[in-house]
Amino acid sequence: MENTAFDVVVVGSGAAGLALALQLPTGLRVAVLSKADTSAGSTSWAQGGIAAVLHERDSVQAHIDDTLEAGAGLCHEPAVRFTIEHSRQVVDWLIAQGLDFDLRQDQLDAEFREFHLTMEGGHSFRRILHAADKTGSAISAVLNERVAERDNIVVMTDRSAVDLITDEQGVRGIYVLNEHTANVDALKARAVALATGGASKAYLYTSNPDGATGDGIALAWRAGCRVANLEFNQFHPTCLYSPETRTYLLTEALRGEGATLHLPTGERFMPRYDERAELAPRDIVARAIDNEMKRYGLDCVYLDATHKTEEELAAHFPGVLERCREAGLDLANERVPVVPAAHYTCGGVVVDQHGAADLPGLYVIGETACTGLHGANRMASNSLLECFVYASSAARHMTENLRIQGDPAVPPWDDSRVRVSDEAVVIQHNWQSLRRLMWDYVGIVRTNRRLKRAANRLRVLSDEIDDYYSSFTITPPLLELRNLTQVAELMVTCAKQRKESRGLHYNSDFPATSQHPEDTVLVPSNSWVDHRSLPTYEGVGG
Ligand code: FAD
Ligand code: SIN
Repeated sequence: MENTAFDVVVVGSGAAGLALALQLPTGLRVAVLSKADTSAGSTSWAQGGIAAVLHERDSVQAHIDDTLEAGAGLCHEPAVRFTIEHSRQVVDWLIAQGLDFDLRQDQLDAEFREFHLTMEGGHSFRRILHAADKTGSAISAVLNERVAERDNIVVMTDRSAVDLITDEQGVRGIYVLNEHTANVDALKARAVALATGGASKAYLYTSNPDGATGDGIALAWRAGCRVANLEFNQFHPTCLYSPETRTYLLTEALRGEGATLHLPTGERFMPRYDERAELAPRDIVARAIDNEMKRYGLDCVYLDATHKTEEELAAHFPGVLERCREAGLDLANERVPVVPAAHYTCGGVVVDQHGAADLPGLYVIGETACTGLHGANRMASNSLLECFVYASSAARHMTENLRIQGDPAVPPWDDSRVRVSDEAVVIQHNWQSLRRLMWDYVGIVRTNRRLKRAANRLRVLSDEIDDYYSSFTITPPLLELRNLTQVAELMVTCAKQRKESRGLHYNSDFPATSQHPEDTVLVPSNSWVDHRSLPTYEGVGG
């Protein structure tokens, strides 16, 4: 059994986790954990790019205004300003790590070529830096290379964080299931950062990798941290509709470069919904597609990128072109079938501007956190930016505030569960039930009745999973199922509490938008904050 002491344990090897580890002082002993390999998170799958204000005619204020508008009145202005004001710094840092963003092709002979900036929904300006349509894998590769060069960082793969270790002072470490030994190790730490990504795997159809099971949100909630705005799960409008293969994202940058959405009849429908048409914010485009599909009983709608030549598509969108080809589709010469799929968790664990959560010594960054940046709807390509901005501020804050000194005494994992489950099929069945019910009842359009049914069914599922968890030896699928069911319950609780429609949350029993935007903040019974002095709307991210 591994009972090792670290200064900082970072759970997650995506953009947020690796950027944090790299920005901590080299004198600190840091562990980075991933429940699979180091490129397993959503980061490696990111296509479109990272939003930043670089063009001389663009401005920080314009990026802020666009983000606030996409967020439908629920963004926290200080968090938005803080994030966007640091975008240039993030780009410089990434370039210093070795990242090559695409340059303009029309300046091949110029002495200094500018970055090629692309366009995405909600942005009023071209401001997305990218590495073709494989920005995420380029980021992941470069950051992993830099981490490998650092003697003070230990990377541990195939390790699933189970629960945080706490005492009355705050966090003391974390219990971790080691898949290689099947043991649960107690890792001691002076600070822990959760950077475990989102929870879109709660839905039957998702653009996310399999590990997006909301683990960090569930761990923080169980340890007494508030969560907020989990009703706002973003559906990406254009995922390839291919019943035989897994869902695959067709980047919004395609629409940014002029691709349009059509019904099977050929009619282009987005101009009927919004003057920005295909470049309206995602909630509007996804709801429009959902509406057209329901209205005509369609399985999908169609994305038309045939205004681009094969060469142009191959230069900017090689990944998408290749994936369409594998599905037997010719993106350059035909319209391709698309549907919305669950894509991004806008809510999460409540944190301040340093990524600090309610539990002393716990930091939560990246998609797991609710910083106040995204409000009721995240604008495209703002999430990678958020990962890097909050990784830097968490690194600074952690370094200055490492509270617990020395070698804290932590209890070893107490496992009285000796029975090995032969019920893998039941766990698999519960996975399917969970994802199907979230898709059917807590999807793009909700009603009070559907939410009530979802809550009832989740309760039953959750009781069954608790029974498994307390009786049988734990396995990674059981841990993920337990976490995701808990997060799904939190999502439904948030959705039931919101008596209006706003951004990504549309309830046809409450179609109007309230004049008084408020976060949905859930407080656990073991909360670390004084319930009476809970921050209100202005304060959650501040
Ligand atoms: P992730 O990159 O998801 O990493 C999570 C890490 O946590 C992984 O290493 C995982 O193994 C680990 N982990 C999880 N649970 C545990 C556990 N219990 N124990 C141990 N380890 C654990 N955003 C943009 O800004 N621009 C884009 O172009 C863009 N395109 C996207 C395209 C796709 C297909 C997808 C899915 C998302 C896209 N996003 C984009 C969103 C963005 O990629 C993610 O929000 C961001 O990468 C999240 O980074 P992260 O570091 O928070 O988590
Ligand atoms: C995309 O490339 O469409 C995804 C961008 C994002 O989710 O920010």
